[in-house]
Amino acid sequence: MAPPPSLLPFLFLVFAAVCNARSDPATATRSVPDECAGRRIHIRRLPPRFNEQLLLNCPAYHPLYDDFCPYLANGALGHKTHNGSRSWYRTDPIVLEPLFHRRLLEYPCLAPDPSAADAVFLPYYAALDALRYLYGPEVNSSHEHGLNLFDFLSQDHPGIWARRGGHDHFLVMAGRAWDFSQDPAAEPPVWGTSFLELPEFYNVTALVLESRAWPWQEQAIPYPTSFHPANLPLLESWIARARRSRRTVLMMFAGGGGSPNSAPNIRRSIRAECENRTSHCEMVDCSNGVCEHDPIRFMRPMLRASFCLQPPGDTPTRRATFDGIIAGCIPVFFEEATARSQYGWHLPPPEEYPSFSVHIPKEDVVGRGLSIADVLLGIPAVEVGRMRERVLEMAPRVLYRRHRSSPGLRSHRDAIDLAVEGALQRISGRLRSLQAGNSLYVGP
Ligand SMILES: *[C@@H]1O[C@H](CO)[C@@H](O)[C@H](O)[C@H]1NC(C)=O
Ligand SMILES: *[C@@H]1O[C@H](CO)[C@@H](O)[C@H](O)[C@H]1NC(C)=O
Ligand SMILES: *[C@@H]1O[C@H](CO)[C@@H](O)[C@H](O)[C@H]1NC(C)=O
Ligand SMILES: *[C@@H]1O[C@H](CO)[C@@H](O)[C@H](O)[C@H]1NC(C)=O
Repeated sequence: MAPPPSLLPFLFLVFAAVCNARSDPATATRSVPDECAGRRIHIRRLPPRFNEQLLLNCPAYHPLYDDFCPYLANGALGHKTHNGSRSWYRTDPIVLEPLFHRRLLEYPCLAPDPSAADAVFLPYYAALDALRYLYGPEVNSSHEHGLNLFDFLSQDHPGIWARRGGHDHFLVMAGRAWDFSQDPAAEPPVWGTSFLELPEFYNVTALVLESRAWPWQEQAIPYPTSFHPANLPLLESWIARARRSRRTVLMMFAGGGGSPNSAPNIRRSIRAECENRTSHCEMVDCSNGVCEHDPIRFMRPMLRASFCLQPPGDTPTRRATFDGIIAGCIPVFFEEATARSQYGWHLPPPEEYPSFSVHIPKEDVVGRGLSIADVLLGIPAVEVGRMRERVLEMAPRVLYRRHRSSPGLRSHRDAIDLAVEGALQRISGRLRSLQAGNSLYVGP
């Protein structure tokens, strides 16, 4: 089957990057300091059924993923928001796996020889492969998700896995750990596959968009937003725009849910308060997914507001946390699991949260009628300015820059650089601990 036309540019980019990587010597000569020491990554060669072939399914997942082909354009950034746009794309988080893979191909310390590598990246498109279990014909065998990958790893060049029992392997899963941590013994149909519950993968580090309350092998990384600058001037001019933007509204909320007929919950309280205090609050109704690929709908309001409300929905985390940070809009969190307990590699440590965000327990709002606007109005203007400055400092660390960015921009670590760094650190810590003879507690 020929790839759909929209896929060709993506496959070409992957091919071009592989050629670049090959012509780039991975090991430095002995006389100069080895900038790759401790950072060498081997990208495991997997049969196409584990990655590229899954992209060919893009038109097939009706109705929930009726067509993810458009999101694969531009190296999985999606189409530009409009023809004149340089940094803004219609990005969908479901294609984070090819996006991450594409970027890793330009990683400066690739090791073609696995035995020289400090870590092994598995370019398995796990969430795209999960679609057939989550929405497709294999819903009743969702406990098998990943077993064919494990079979491959233990049969093809088995030494690569066996060398460290998989402790040096990592992969990306474009979803919430909850989507992949179903008890394998549960009777179908229940939501989720069991990938993260398989003992075969306990040793692997999985980068996900939301981790569980007691994560074992996974670590949360930011949701991709729509902003993907390709050079430093584009990043700097955006940050300057966000910094000087006139914040005429106290707070805003972009999202769905919270209808007056729903049971009391934080989104319903926010909606009620916003509708009652229109001079302080702006609502962007994102029901039915209308905002997902249309960042203009919410980015302009985020630039106008001092505070962005980030209530939990079906699960605690949301992409809008990162859209808001890029807009210089101070996040207001209603539970710890929305960010504080999730993004330790990308956002400041828990004790620094008060310097850039506001925490209002959702119980105080829903149960005790606390007014969010009153809390925010009580924060002095200088303090608000300081918090916004910290948010803007964080923005470069949570965005996903465009592949093949200029060297100037590459010197600022973005979400993928930090994810790779975090994975390398976690892996080296594990290996040290294993070498010291500590038996690692394996499994939840
Ligand atoms: C955008 O560019 C494409 C290709 O150059 C062109 O076909 C299309 O008409 C343009 N769209 C707009 C709205 O200008
Ligand atoms: C999955 O199992 C349920 C319950 O046993 C059954 O009703 C359903 O038809 C099965 N679905 C598929 C796609 O086989
Ligand atoms: C995971 O690591 C442990 C040692 O910590 C090892 O005994 C086990 O075999 C490894 N699991 C797999 C599936 O390789
Ligand atoms: C709206 O505001 C009025 C006056 O401030 C107040 O009496 C009323 O309870 C508020 N309604 C809601 C739904 O918060």
